[in-house]
Amino acid sequence: MKPLERLRERMSELNVDAALISNATNVGWLTGFTGSTAMVIITPSDAVFISDSRYREQAKEQVDSMTVEILQAPKTYPEVVAEQARKLGASRLGFEAEHVTFAQHSSWEKKMAGIDLRPVEKLADRLRMVKYDWEIERIKAACGVTDACFDHVERLFQVGVTELDIAIEIEFFIRRQGATVAFDVIAVSGARSARPHGVPSDKKLEPGDFLTLDFGACVDGFNSDMTRTVLIGEPTAKHREVYNAVLEAQLAAIEAIRPGAAGKDVDKVARDVLARHSLDQFFGHGLGHGLGRLVHDVGSLSTASEDILEEGMVFTVEPGVYIEGFGGVRIEDDVVVRATGAEILNRTPKDFRAYGS
Ligand code: GLY
Ligand code: MN
Ligand code: MN
Repeated sequence: MKPLERLRERMSELNVDAALISNATNVGWLTGFTGSTAMVIITPSDAVFISDSRYREQAKEQVDSMTVEILQAPKTYPEVVAEQARKLGASRLGFEAEHVTFAQHSSWEKKMAGIDLRPVEKLADRLRMVKYDWEIERIKAACGVTDACFDHVERLFQVGVTELDIAIEIEFFIRRQGATVAFDVIAVSGARSARPHGVPSDKKLEPGDFLTLDFGACVDGFNSDMTRTVLIGEPTAKHREVYNAVLEAQLAAIEAIRPGAAGKDVDKVARDVLARHSLDQFFGHGLGHGLGRLVHDVGSLSTASEDILEEGMVFTVEPGVYIEGFGGVRIEDDVVVRATGAEILNRTPKDFRAYGS
């Protein structure tokens, strides 16, 4: 089913006779438009795409599934949205509750007197969680770039190389593949690896350091997000113990992924493994997040998740243990929920590895 049809089906379930999609990612999903500002109004039989004069030509090129309406100063978005909503006969107009600011809502209310504006949670977000095959193919291509990149930077896992040296090489490599970095590269070592989202510094790798690399590539608008932790020099028993506990937690969580599983239960599987190793107090973040058009896309595997997994959803699985003064370990893969379980998209090995020992 195409995005527009999925949305119309949801509208009928919600008992709204029109939907206003204003989030750029969701507009992109619905129409193929890649610009930053546009809105779509959908009714059961009609749809209109609204953007402004900056995107006149781009919209003509990219949007062929609905009427395109381009606004020009002194007209404003709220005016044109109201005009089009009336023209389409919208009376109960659902909007994206989590993507609309209070100010935006106020301006719509002023212009749309008589139209019942209804906030709907995850109006389009929920639908976007289940990926099309062609979307999964792009995520796979992005994962291919991260795998190749890890392979390329492995030669830098040496005493004396700085975190920044590695981060910059990762960025160069990804750009040279014709991709862009999905987010700022994380490269942290030694005690600094206890910072889950640490910024690479000029600290040099030393014997006995954990080195955590977390990076992703964006290919044709779709992202990958992978983390590996390795050891520089000779490992101690504690290094192995912490690493293997995180790996056990990650593998157990991946094993628990299947259609019908609750996101919060998958998170708990990882948390329970770490609890058995008395390490759960060092795992402060969620197990994973949706992945696709956004790095942190809709959906989560976490204690607060209300998601029930379905075939075609894509998540990261990334337990971590962060011990202040000692260091941290995180292992992150990207997986697709398939009928028979999780399909792992990364090929980079994740068994315990020590370099230069
Ligand atoms: N790179 C951010 C994350 O793993 O969620
Ligand atoms: Mn990551
Ligand atoms: Mn992630």
